[in-house]
Amino acid sequence: MSNIQDGALLTESRFIMPLKLDHIKACVFDAYGTLFDVNAAARAEQAALGDKWQEIADIWRLKQLQYSWLRSLQQRHTDFWEVTGDALDFALASVKLDDSALRNRLMNLYLTLSAYPEVQETLQKLQAAGIRCAILSNGSPKMLAAAVENAGIGPFLDGIYSIEEVGVYKPDPRTYQLAVDRLGIGPSEICFQSSNGWDAYGAKAFGFNVLWCNRFDQAAERLPGTPDGQIKSLAELPAIIGVE
Ligand code: LAC
Repeated sequence: MSNIQDGALLTESRFIMPLKLDHIKACVFDAYGTLFDVNAAARAEQAALGDKWQEIADIWRLKQLQYSWLRSLQQRHTDFWEVTGDALDFALASVKLDDSALRNRLMNLYLTLSAYPEVQETLQKLQAAGIRCAILSNGSPKMLAAAVENAGIGPFLDGIYSIEEVGVYKPDPRTYQLAVDRLGIGPSEICFQSSNGWDAYGAKAFGFNVLWCNRFDQAAERLPGTPDGQIKSLAELPAIIGVE
């Protein structure tokens, strides 16, 4: 039996060994919640949203993800910009807010979500060590380009892969295959990071090495594909893949 815990692997023999992943040639990152702070837009509009801003941000995110999965199941794909707008409309209606100017401001803020504090330095270290870095996200190319530009992390990325190319959302295996195809290396040479448990499990079930960046201290998923380890921040990644 194996289990996961912070930055370490709990093995069958119950010895806790520091987690090490060898032979990694590329690191692939989920975008929203992993590199970019999904709460940043609602937080910036706290004055207009009042003390319910976090609740609105949570409903917005949850609905955004639900709509991505539901549209994939329905085989009625629409891009993540539209899904994000639909989810925001649901969230605002849930708290009886009807303000189209506020809605537009929140959507524009979603294009420039701030990156988590350790992101730039981590990518810089990986690049300096010869590790190729890429984003694999549900985000549309326009959304991802804007967020990357705003965070100033473009120079550290070898690729920005949007699931728009395959027309279905994560965790469909075809989305993870996109990163394999674009990087031209096998899944066992790729380490995938996501703060979304379901995405981390989906990526592991696909065949990547996976670190679940469990920023929000969520419980383990009951899904196939237990990640190789959990980290609290991406700053732990370079040491785990042996480049620090
Ligand atoms: C993404 C969402 C799942 O960036 O966070 O793909």
